[in-house]
Amino acid sequence: MQRPSILILAAGRGERMRSELPKVLHPLAGRPMLSYVLEKAKTLRPRRLVVVVGYQASQVRKQFREKNITWVLQKRQRGTADAVKIAAKYLKKIGGPLLILSGDVPLLSLDLLRQMMEKFESERPALAFLTTKLTDPSGYGRVIRNGHCEVIRIVEHLDASEEEKGIQEINAGLYLGESGEIFEALEEIPCRHPKNEYYLTDLVEILLKKGKKVLGILTPESNECLGINTREQLILAEESLRKKRNASWIRKGILLKNPDTIIIGPDVQLFPPLTIHQGVSLYGKSRVESGVEILPYSVVEDSWVKKGARIGPFAHLRPGSVVGEEAEIGNFCELKKARLGKKVKSHHVSYLGDAVIGAGTNVGAGTITCNYDGFKKHQTKIGKKVFIGSNTEIVAPRRIGDGAYIGAGTTLTRDVPKGALALTRVEQKNVRGWATKKRKR
Ligand code: UD1
Ligand code: CA
Repeated sequence: MQRPSILILAAGRGERMRSELPKVLHPLAGRPMLSYVLEKAKTLRPRRLVVVVGYQASQVRKQFREKNITWVLQKRQRGTADAVKIAAKYLKKIGGPLLILSGDVPLLSLDLLRQMMEKFESERPALAFLTTKLTDPSGYGRVIRNGHCEVIRIVEHLDASEEEKGIQEINAGLYLGESGEIFEALEEIPCRHPKNEYYLTDLVEILLKKGKKVLGILTPESNECLGINTREQLILAEESLRKKRNASWIRKGILLKNPDTIIIGPDVQLFPPLTIHQGVSLYGKSRVESGVEILPYSVVEDSWVKKGARIGPFAHLRPGSVVGEEAEIGNFCELKKARLGKKVKSHHVSYLGDAVIGAGTNVGAGTITCNYDGFKKHQTKIGKKVFIGSNTEIVAPRRIGDGAYIGAGTTLTRDVPKGALALTRVEQKNVRGWATKKRKR
C-alpha cells in the first residue's frame, strides 16, 4: 500500500476531564496522551503528518518540538468533521490514502494499524473504520449493521434510540480512506443537534448513499480502542498499559513482585535479571542494570542504577542520580543529582543532593548535604572510603578528601583534607542528681 498521510484530531478541550489542561496533554503513565498517538503515526512514515489543535493550541504544540508535523488550528471546536475539513488544505493535494486518528485513543498498537492497512489494501473500500465490542459501550458511537452484517451507519450515543444503545459494537474513532473520497463527502455533512457539531461519523452514510464501499473492521483488541473522555477512562487506560508493559518485562526476565502495584514508565530501560518489589515506581529515562534489587515503595526518576545495587525500601532517587555498582541505598534516603561510586552505602534517612561520592564511602544515618543557601545550589565532593558519622551536616560547597573520617553530629563548614578527622561538638555537661531532684518535686 502507498504510504498514507496521517491526520490526528486533537483540538478538543475534553470538558469531561474537568481540568484546565488540554485533554491530549493529560499524562498517561508519565507521558502526554498525544505522544503515544504521534509516536505510532511517525513510525508509519506518513507522507504528511497533520495535527489539528484548538483548545490551548500553543501549549500543546510546545510539548512536541519535532519537525515534520504540520500543526493546524481549529479555532472553534465544531466537531470531528469540521476538524478534518480545516486540515484539507494541507492534505487534499497529496491524495492517496488518509489515516485519521484521534488524539484521545492512545493505546492503539502498530500491529492493529497495520492490520487495518492490509484489509484496506485487499478490499479497497472508499472508507474503512475500526470497531470493537465493549461490555460497557456507553458514550461511544454505535455501529449499525444490516442483516448481511454490512455497515449502514454510525449513530452517536446522544442520538441513539434505546435499542441502538444496546448495541455493543462501537466506533473506535480511527479511519482509513481515499482522501479524495473523504474530502468530497465531507462537504455534505450536516450540522447535528443537540451539540451543533459536524460529525465525522456521518461520512459512513454519505459514502454509502453515493454507492461507495464502506468497511467496519471489527477487532477483538478492545483495550487498544479505548477512547479517553473522562478521568475514569484515563485510569482504565493506564491500568491496561501497565498490565501489558509489566507482562512484557516479566517475559524478558525481570522479576516483578506483585506486578499490579508496580509502575514502569515507557522510556525506562531494565536489564535482566533483576528484582523489583511491590509499590515501586520507575519514571523517565531511568536505567536499571542487572543484579539490582529495588525494595518496596521506592521511586526512581531519570536515574541510573548500576549492577548489583540495592535500593530501598522507601528510597527516592530524583533526576540525575547515579548509584554505583553494588551500592546500597536504604530507607528514607533521598538522592538528587548525586553520583555515587561503587559500594557506597547510605542505609538510613539521608539527603544527598548535588553530590559526588567516591567508591566505598559510608554515609551515616541522618547525613544531609546542605546544598541550597536560599539563593543557589552548591556541590559537595566526597572522596573514596570516607566514613561519615551519623547526623552530619555538610554545608556546601564542600570537599572531603579520600579516607577522611567525620565524627557523628558534625556540622562541616570547612573542607576536610585526605585522611583527616573532622569533628565539631558542643561540650557535654552532666549535672549530677538534677533529674532525680526534679522528679521528687
Ligand atoms: C468520537 C466519535 C465516536 C467514537 C469515539 C471513539 C464522532 C462524532 N464521534 O466520539 O463515534 O465512538 O470518538 O473514541 O466523531 N476533536 C477535534 N475537534 C473537534 C471535536 C473533536 O479535534 O471539533 C478531536 C478531539 O480532541 C478528540 C477527537 O477529535 O481527540 C474525538 O473527539 P471527541 O469529542 O472525544 O469525540 P467522542 O465524543 O469521544
Ligand atoms: Ca473521545
